[in-house]
Amino acid sequence: MASFRCNLLLLALLALAAAVSAHNITAILDAAPEYSQFNSFLTQTRLADEINTRTTVTVLALTNGVMSSLAAKHPLSVMKNVLSLHILLDYYDPAKLHKISDGSVLTTTLYQTTGHAPGNLGFVNITDLSGGKVGFGSAAPGSKLDSSYTKSVKQIPYNISVLEISAPVLAPGILAAPAPASDMNITALLEKAGCKTFAALIVSSGVIKTFQTTAAKGLTLFAPNDEAFKAKGVPDLTKLTNAEVVSLLQYHAIPKYTPKGALKTTKDPISTLATNGAGKYDITVTTAGDQVTLHTGVASSRVADTVLDATPFSVFTVDSVLLPTELFGKSPSPAPSMEPVAAPSPTPVLAPSPASVEAPSPMAASPPAPPSESTPEGAPSDAPSSEAADSTSGNGAGHVNSPALLMTLLTVVSVSAISSVLLS
Ligand SMILES: *[C@@H]1O[C@H](CO)[C@@H](O)[C@H](O)[C@H]1NC(C)=O
Ligand SMILES: *[C@@H]1O[C@H](CO)[C@@H](O)[C@H](O)[C@H]1NC(C)=O
Ligand SMILES: *[C@@H]1O[C@H](CO)[C@@H](O)[C@H](O)[C@H]1NC(C)=O
Ligand SMILES: *[C@@H]1O[C@H](CO)[C@@H](O)[C@H](O)[C@H]1NC(C)=O
Repeated sequence: MASFRCNLLLLALLALAAAVSAHNITAILDAAPEYSQFNSFLTQTRLADEINTRTTVTVLALTNGVMSSLAAKHPLSVMKNVLSLHILLDYYDPAKLHKISDGSVLTTTLYQTTGHAPGNLGFVNITDLSGGKVGFGSAAPGSKLDSSYTKSVKQIPYNISVLEISAPVLAPGILAAPAPASDMNITALLEKAGCKTFAALIVSSGVIKTFQTTAAKGLTLFAPNDEAFKAKGVPDLTKLTNAEVVSLLQYHAIPKYTPKGALKTTKDPISTLATNGAGKYDITVTTAGDQVTLHTGVASSRVADTVLDATPFSVFTVDSVLLPTELFGKSPSPAPSMEPVAAPSPTPVLAPSPASVEAPSPMAASPPAPPSESTPEGAPSDAPSSEAADSTSGNGAGHVNSPALLMTLLTVVSVSAISSVLLS
C-alpha cells in the first residue's frame, strides 16, 4: 500500500516535470556536433524559440558541410527563410516517413506562417521513393526532390522529431535577399503598414537616424498604428519637451533582434533604446497562445502584425502608444486618499524595496524628512513621483501620524504585489 502511494507520488512528480520542461532544440542538437552550425543558426535567427514553443514539430537538420556552403553565400535574413522551410509543423519519425499514404504528401512549414510564402511555397513535398529512399523538395510545381532522408537524430514522440537530410530544401525565390537593413527605407515601410504618425514623429525628432544605424546590428520596432495616436488617454505630445519625445519614441524600440518567437519566450523585463542611467524604460511581455502583449507599467498593448522579419531587424505594429512610467507614471489615477502625507520620521524600514520603485505610486518617496534634516535615508529619489511628493512634504508634518503609517504600509504591500505580478 505504501509503495503504491509512493508510486503515485512519483508519477505525479514525473507528470509535473514533463509539463514544465518542453523540448529544447538547442540542447538536443548540442549532443550532435555534426549539426553545430545548423544549431548556431537556429539560435541566431531565433528559430530555436519558435521550435521550442511548438509541439508536433519536425526539424530537418543539415550537417556542417552543407551548412557552410549555404551560409557562405547568403545573409542571415535569407538563412532564416531557408531554415524555416526545414521546420515542419507535423510529426514525422522514420517509421511515418515510410508509411506516407499514396507515397507522397505536402506538409506545412514554419516558412508558410511568416506570410512571405505565396501559394504553396511554404510547403514541403515528402515522397517515398523506390528502394526505401525518402525524397524532400519544395511543393512548388516543377520542383525536384533533390534532398533525401539520411538518418534519424532524435525523437520525443509526438512532440519533436529531428531528422538529417542530405541537402537543403529550397523554394523558388527563397534565396533572393531582402534589402539590407541599412538600405531599407524605414519611413516608407512604416507608412505602408498604417503607421504614418509614428513615421512622421521619428523623422521630425531625428530618431530615425538612431533606428537606421541600429537596424543593421539588431533592432525591433513596435510601431503604434495611426488609430493608436487618436485613442482616448493618449497624452498631448506637444506638451512634452523634445528630449521627452525622443525618449518616448526610443521606448518603442529594442536594440536587439527579437522576432515573435523570441518575444514569446521572454520572461525578464526588456530594455529599450530609451533605457539609460536615469530611467529603466523597460517593457514586460506576456503571452497567451499566439497573442503577445506588452506592458509598460502604465498600460498594456497588443502586438498586432509582423510588418518585417529580416534578421537582424524586425518591425511589429502595436495597438496602443507605449507609455513609459518614467514619463507618464503620475497619470494612472491614484486614489485621492493616496496623496503623500507626513509619516513619523524614524521609519526607513517602510521605504519600498528597490524592486517596487518602478511601480508608479505617489507614496514612493515618503516618508519625508524631519524638519531639520535634508533627505531621508533609504527613500528612493528617482521614483517617478518624487516631485509630487516633494511639493507637499513641507505641509503639516505631525497631525496625521497613524493613518499615514497604515497607508504607507498598505501602499508598500500593494506596490510590491503589483510589481511582483508585473515582473513574474
Ligand atoms: C510533449 O509536450 C507536451 C506539451 O508541452 C507535454 O505536456 C508532454 O510532456 C511532452 N511529452 C514529452 C514526452 O516530453
Ligand atoms: C536550451 O539549452 C541550451 C543549451 O543546453 C541552454 O543554453 C538554454 O538555456 C536552454 N533553453 C531553455 C529555454 O531552457
Ligand atoms: C511531390 O513531388 C513529386 C515529384 O515532383 C510529384 O510527382 C508529386 O506529385 C508531388 N507530391 C504531391 C503530393 O504534390
Ligand atoms: C523614404 O520614403 C519616404 C516616404 O515614403 C520618402 O519621403 C523619402 O524620401 C524616402 N527616403 C529615401 C532615403 O529614399
